[in-house]
Amino acid sequence: ITHNTFTKLVLLLFVLFFFSLPAKLINGGIAGIVGVTCVFPIDLAKTRLQNQRPGQQVYKSMIDCLIKTVRSEGYFGMYRGAAVNLTLVTPEKAIKLAANDFFRCHLSKDGRGLTVFREMLAGCAAGMCQVIITTPMEMLKIQLQDAGRLAAQQRKPGIIPPNRLATTNAVLSRSYNVVPSTSPRVISATQIARELLHSQGIQGLYKGLGATLLRDVPFSIVYFPLFANLNKLGKPSPDAAAPFYWSFISGCVAGSTAAVVVNPCDVVKTRLQSLSKGANEESYNGIIDCFSKIMKREGPSAFLKGAGCRALVIAPLFGIVQVMYFLGVGEFIMSQSSLKLISD
Ligand SMILES: *[C@@H]1O[C@H](CO)[C@@H](O)[C@H](O)[C@H]1NC(C)=O
Repeated sequence: ITHNTFTKLVLLLFVLFFFSLPAKLINGGIAGIVGVTCVFPIDLAKTRLQNQRPGQQVYKSMIDCLIKTVRSEGYFGMYRGAAVNLTLVTPEKAIKLAANDFFRCHLSKDGRGLTVFREMLAGCAAGMCQVIITTPMEMLKIQLQDAGRLAAQQRKPGIIPPNRLATTNAVLSRSYNVVPSTSPRVISATQIARELLHSQGIQGLYKGLGATLLRDVPFSIVYFPLFANLNKLGKPSPDAAAPFYWSFISGCVAGSTAAVVVNPCDVVKTRLQSLSKGANEESYNGIIDCFSKIMKREGPSAFLKGAGCRALVIAPLFGIVQVMYFLGVGEFIMSQSSLKLISD
């Protein structure tokens, strides 16, 4: 079959998959799409702040980064890479929610509640399943988000000696953003994916897998039990559901707490996954090398880079998920649609 037919087939399967999802997963998917639209610019600022090395700062803070991005790349510049998230957020949520339910179900004895330890175990296992999609997603997203920072760094006078402008070790350097020009060639996620697959095979897309696991597994370990317990505090009686605003706040608090706790791993992950480097930006051989180089050259505070942004990204993302569940958007769609038959 031709490439085109193949693409159509995949799309069809994707649509069928989406509509055969249980209502719960549709909630997750819609929450993801709404969430990405709301907070993507902060996520972009996070990536750029994390990749800045001392002495070559283009951006002073999140706000400064957003203002400069809008000035030089326009409003849509803040959404570079958002298409990756919009496309993959539903499958990602599907895997995570399904895995979490699966493990919780299997770990609970005779339908009674889970102990905190088992809740952690379920969250941890779900986090491990999710990285199958998260890693390539982040890999592509980061290249797109960071391109504007590298371009800005090259434009900024005094930072880079002119003879160092073209030095870089990145695989993709020839295709984007390291050529000293004021308008970097715009490249799409599909092009990056294709080039990576071509030059490095599937491993190319899974660069930073270890760091992603190191970030997401502990994230789940903190998030799920914290949310469940915070939510429990708001229940009027053991059998009743917590009020809506309570679930929303629990989601925000649990999400941002977990995000800040695992931020050091997120910094390492961002550094490892950035293919194009600016002049004088060192590259790393794996997680340990990256940790120790950052520690030595930038000090421990570097591990908190982008932590505020990350908390601001995660809190609404998780809060919105709780709202979707509460409103039962997925259940509504399923009950309205003739496709309901498929899922029954
Ligand atoms: C985009 O997706 C990645 C991978 O799941 C996630 O870490 C990040 O928070 C997402 N960003 C937004 C703004 O949704």
